[in-house]
Amino acid sequence: MNERLQLDFWECASDILHRLNKGGVLCTVVDQTGQHNVLTLGWGQIGPFYHGHPVFVIAVTPLRYSWRFLEEVPEFVIAVPDEALAEAAAFCGRRSGRDLDKFEAAGLSPVPSQHVRAPSIRECPINVECRIYARVAPPHMLLTPEHRQRPAEEQHTIYFAEVLGTYGWRDRA
Ligand SMILES: Cc1cc2nc3c(=O)[nH]c(=O)nc-3n(C[C@H](O)[C@H](O)[C@H](O)COP(=O)(O)O)c2cc1C
Repeated sequence: MNERLQLDFWECASDILHRLNKGGVLCTVVDQTGQHNVLTLGWGQIGPFYHGHPVFVIAVTPLRYSWRFLEEVPEFVIAVPDEALAEAAAFCGRRSGRDLDKFEAAGLSPVPSQHVRAPSIRECPINVECRIYARVAPPHMLLTPEHRQRPAEEQHTIYFAEVLGTYGWRDRA
């Protein structure tokens, strides 16, 4: 048995940034039919904002299978892996949900979230539930000059999301 535990986003901020920068965080997505997927993200920003909720900014290229999911259902969960999940994060950043169920293949358990339809991940100690409120299509200045030379349809869409809740798990016997 395990119980969801509410966490303070800002107390998790350094863990989130550390993982973004080192191996990536997991990001779960869902489409209109309820099918879900997970990919690894290394580009991201977090910060406080006027509406009081922290903001999480991610960038995903339309080349990813997950992109259509974000466009259909503007929600995601950032599931922060610990060291033991480093290989799972690498796997989800190398393989596509077009070809296989990455949750099953990487030994990750999708569980319902509190505020969004995208699932949380039971094995991840921190799950940040996010709702997208703005998107910026290319061209934009986030990308490197090299990225900006690629066809527009390959350049990353930037998604601004508000954090609706941050959760971990308490194990119970
Ligand atoms: C460490 C790491 C960081 C990554 N960061 C991003 C990112 O910020 N944005 C992105 O679109 N893809 C990023 N990727 C690539 C995707 O995770 C990868 O292409 C994945 O296979 C896409 O899965 P999907 O096709 O199931 O959506 C990253 C991969 C790794 C390994």
